[in-house]
Amino acid sequence: MRDQLLLDAATVESLLKAAVAAPSIHNTQPWRFRLDRDRQVLEVHSAPERTLPLTDPTHRAQYLSVGAAVFNLRLAAVHQGWRPEVRPLPDPHRPGLLAAVRLTGPLAADDQPCDPGLYEAIARRHTSRMPFTGRPVPEPIVAEMTAAAHAAGARLHLPDIAGTRRLLRLTAAAEARNHAHPDRTTETRTWLTAPGADTPYGIPITALGPPDAAGRMPMRDFTGAVPALSRPARWFERHIQLALLWTPHDRREDWLRAGQALQYVLLTATAHGLRTSLLHQAMEWPDLRTATAPPRHRRCHPHVLIRFGYGPEGASTPRGTAQSTA
Ligand SMILES: Cc1cc2nc3c(=O)[nH]c(=O)nc-3n(C[C@H](O)[C@H](O)[C@H](O)COP(=O)(O)O)c2cc1C
Repeated sequence: MRDQLLLDAATVESLLKAAVAAPSIHNTQPWRFRLDRDRQVLEVHSAPERTLPLTDPTHRAQYLSVGAAVFNLRLAAVHQGWRPEVRPLPDPHRPGLLAAVRLTGPLAADDQPCDPGLYEAIARRHTSRMPFTGRPVPEPIVAEMTAAAHAAGARLHLPDIAGTRRLLRLTAAAEARNHAHPDRTTETRTWLTAPGADTPYGIPITALGPPDAAGRMPMRDFTGAVPALSRPARWFERHIQLALLWTPHDRREDWLRAGQALQYVLLTATAHGLRTSLLHQAMEWPDLRTATAPPRHRRCHPHVLIRFGYGPEGASTPRGTAQSTA
């Protein structure tokens, strides 16, 4: 009975729909799914044609994105009553196979059920690049986000005011370097799409936000300073709330773990009515990435900055169909 349900195309489709709703760098959606019906496994493969050779030469950001998709897949499987078993990088002879999610059977009575709030947050979560209100996020919510990162095998660092300024300064330095690097600027702009564009990949111009009138918030400028594309500046929140996601190791499996943790944190925030956006620029320059590690944190490998708070919802972005081959 369970196998029949599993093999039902609509069921598989709903798992994949959840998976691809994950955030990905520049909305590249650098994944491809393959269903192995006999083994009840959904394989997640790399889509090398949707990677960023200049921005992400090590593919770390790609793995973060794939990890986020795997987390959604896991949540959706549990939501459907299945127990998912995730194997990162399951076959050393198939380097493009980044993860395998096996549905080992129905959830048992003592299994952790799916948190409905978290599952529903998958569809509601969008990156919001607009100014937030600055209203402080209550400590219990921040603690839940921190616990989520921890549960997924990563860590969340909440900087104090001086630490926040330091992270913003490093991000601004990275943003300036990106601007001074014409090839990187071109690569980024390639992933910006016009309204109504005939592609499910990349970021529609309508999902971008304004630059900060005060120059304190170094949001990524996807437009490459083409004046016709950028929006008028606005004032961003004075009280900027940031979290740094990091792992104690820096291997490919850690990147996948960090991606799952990222999505767990983002969905926890979304379930509590928060908005989020990501600042990844400093991670794209090795010296700046190292410098984002908090002082006195040994073995800290930073992955991304999460900006969170209350504010307007972000615009939704398109997704490609998650092709699965039987
Ligand atoms: C690893 C990673 C890095 C990202 N870096 C940035 C960033 O530096 N600036 C930004 O505005 N968005 C960043 N994003 C958000 C993506 O642009 C966003 O997820 C994608 O456009 C899909 O939109 P959505 O999050 O609204 O679904 C990043 C996402 C991931 C997974």
